[in-house]
Amino acid sequence: MDGKSVELAGVTMVFDGFTAVHPTQLSIPAGEFHSILGPSGCGKTTLLRIVSGFQRPSAGRVLIGGEPVDHLPANRRPTAMIFQSLALFPRMSVRENVAFGLEARGVSKRERHERADELLALVALETHADKRPDQLSGGQRQRVAVARALAVEPSVLCLDEPLSALDLKLRQHMRSELRALQKRTGVTFIYITHDQGEALTMSDRISVMNKGRIEQVGTPAEIYDAPATPFVAGFVGEQNVFTGKVTAIENGFARIDGAGGTFTGRRMIDVAVGDQAILMVRPERTGIVDAEGANGNRLSARVEGRELEGPYLNLVTRDATGRRVVLHLSNDGRAHPTGGAAVIGFKPEDAIVMPARDGIAAAEAAVDEAGTAPAAAGA
Ligand SMILES: Nc1ncnc2c1ncn2[C@@H]1O[C@H](COP(=O)(O)OP(=O)(O)O)[C@@H](O)[C@H]1O
Ligand SMILES: [Mg+2]
Repeated sequence: MDGKSVELAGVTMVFDGFTAVHPTQLSIPAGEFHSILGPSGCGKTTLLRIVSGFQRPSAGRVLIGGEPVDHLPANRRPTAMIFQSLALFPRMSVRENVAFGLEARGVSKRERHERADELLALVALETHADKRPDQLSGGQRQRVAVARALAVEPSVLCLDEPLSALDLKLRQHMRSELRALQKRTGVTFIYITHDQGEALTMSDRISVMNKGRIEQVGTPAEIYDAPATPFVAGFVGEQNVFTGKVTAIENGFARIDGAGGTFTGRRMIDVAVGDQAILMVRPERTGIVDAEGANGNRLSARVEGRELEGPYLNLVTRDATGRRVVLHLSNDGRAHPTGGAAVIGFKPEDAIVMPARDGIAAAEAAVDEAGTAPAAAGA
């Protein structure tokens, strides 16, 4: 099998005057595991259906392996798709399920079954070939669906939230299985998910989508540590947010002055002195500091709640202005009692500063809204 590149050139989708996908550019190199991450309703499935030929775009072009495919129906494209609800044929054996797509292509029965057995070996189900789907576990059925999709030797495999029906443990296990399978076959994967954990652990690169637009394309580390927009910052992981006016910029850092104090963080995008801005820092990069000697940013707060997760401790605190600041600490045995005072600190290099062009309230709302966006797709 061989992966091919995928290119979207100005792809747009308008349904009855509603723009589900704004004009989109995206280049996915051959053999990449590319995730499209975003909340329910942001246009992920629509984009994937356009790539695989189940949906004709209102405008724009799709190129696969450098060749335009716009004139080709789904079954003539070098793509295969695994849908959210993977319908296996209940009365067919696992082997027949996998071989199904080859029959339409005129492959002989013997060859079909040989090919199916090879693919079942690839997904470690060779001993289950004669069973029916209902005799398999959820994770095994998922692997059958993958084997069936790979049977037609696609260059691009489109997966639409394929793990969303599985329970948490199995989902986490399947992440590494799918990732390994993608590397083993070299097929380009376009993987849709609303689950940031899936996207971060499985992908070579991620497109983060919001309201029909891709807001950022990057590696998991880029998306997490250098988000391009308040939405991306808030949707992927959690953030503590501080606000103020930019009073200094130096060596790639920006200082903000606000009601909650003076804080410094990495200058993101083109924030300038005098701008209204928001500063964000991750709960796991926010700590309790000693009274003196800590480098960088500090503020006083009161512990409002604590949540022990075994190895970790989540502390919810509130500063003098009433702002909620969350800390993810490793459990070092210290109590941090509720109601107690805490001096909180974080390093400038762990914080980012972004301009709030539409005002601080709008930027804060974008981060907030992203953090609470409805996750479950189709639900
Ligand atoms: N065939 C359609 N007709 C009208 N609206 C649609 C159609 N398909 C999708 N939409 C709308 O387009 C938006 C994006 O949908 P979808 O791509 O399914 O989002 P996601 O997969 O990210 O949850 C939603 O508002 C949805 O209601
Ligand atoms: Mg969807």
